[in-house]
Amino acid sequence: MHRLVISDVPDSRLEGKRVFVRVDFNVPIKGGKINEDYRIRRAIPTIDYLIEKKAKVVLASHLGRPEGHVIPDLSLKPIALRLSELLGKSVKFTGMVRGEEVKKSIEDLNGGEVMLLENLRFHKEETDNDPEFSKELASFADIYVNDAFGTSHRKHASTYGMASYFDLRLAGFLVSRELKFLTRIRENPERPFIVIVGGGKIKDKINALSNFIEKADKVLLGGGVAYTFLKAKGVNIGNSIVDDEKIDWARESLEKFGDKIYLPVDHVVAGSFERRKNCMVMDEEIPDDLQGFDIGPKTAAYYNHQIKGNGSIFWSGPMGVFEVDDFSAGTTQVARTVALATWRGATTVVGGGDTIASIRKAEVLDSEITHISTGGGALLEFLGGEELPGISILNKKEENISLAAN
Ligand code: 3PG
Repeated sequence: MHRLVISDVPDSRLEGKRVFVRVDFNVPIKGGKINEDYRIRRAIPTIDYLIEKKAKVVLASHLGRPEGHVIPDLSLKPIALRLSELLGKSVKFTGMVRGEEVKKSIEDLNGGEVMLLENLRFHKEETDNDPEFSKELASFADIYVNDAFGTSHRKHASTYGMASYFDLRLAGFLVSRELKFLTRIRENPERPFIVIVGGGKIKDKINALSNFIEKADKVLLGGGVAYTFLKAKGVNIGNSIVDDEKIDWARESLEKFGDKIYLPVDHVVAGSFERRKNCMVMDEEIPDDLQGFDIGPKTAAYYNHQIKGNGSIFWSGPMGVFEVDDFSAGTTQVARTVALATWRGATTVVGGGDTIASIRKAEVLDSEITHISTGGGALLEFLGGEELPGISILNKKEENISLAAN
């Protein structure tokens, strides 16, 4: 299902119009310092386009989970500053979300000017998808754009409720690109299709993982996900993290698809996270008093060997506790292998949770991956086959809505 994109609309529909763009600027930030701005940079093409078309651009996002409270550390002010730097032009910051003053300052914008609202979740009505709040946000604009793929799984006022007030509910370029790559991975991946999944719990990714196990040619597992499968197979995993509720499911998956599920053959282990300085590599089984924190070098080489430079590769989730140097080698090796596969001609898609941070740590460049998704939960829900409310509310291309200037 194709969604109408901002570039499908004639310029005359955008010029001088108030365009509300829901972005996902939920980035890691501490004491006003933005630690990682990939999501902000990825929204720039949409903002640039609307500036060029002389729209009055109103940006809105959440940051963290303030649950209806005004928390100064979760203000979007530092993001307005970073955005001004990236755009090379000043972004007006309202410091508020609601009220006549906000509405008036939006009306007073000149075509091509950009304004950022304060954190939407300072109002509980946002996550409640409150109808009055949705209506007020909708009164700020003439056109609605969703460029917040990462929040599209939330049925909130700004991602869903307000959109129904608009005739034009468009996808921005970020959302459109995510849908292009992720739909292909979900429905029609180029083969061979290799999936690498790591991270802590299976619970959050069970639907996506089930889909992949069925569709992929090879599924390479690491992290807590792998320990759950190893335990289901009867391998001793010591004190390693495991999703006990998913052991039966893992066992059934191994019975049906065992020939394409690849599991670690060695591990980096330690007595505990605190006693990690005495870590060592162990083959196969992990004794009861030890815990696995990363895939071992034999596994990394064995996985490397499965990944060629053709078809498509999807990777989500680190192979171990990569934030700690002693346990980062497996994830770094996978990141570099995926980057190399891109250079050799494979289509590579990565995303979810900590994957971007692990790419950074491995010094792999954004350009060495075909598509780095901005989604965490949204990505996994989409790949698990679910319809995302923030996407389903947008106009379909097939809808044939009138695009003539008004
Ligand atoms: C994310 O980081 O996954 C999105 O911004 C959504 O945030 P949320 O999980 O707090 O709704």
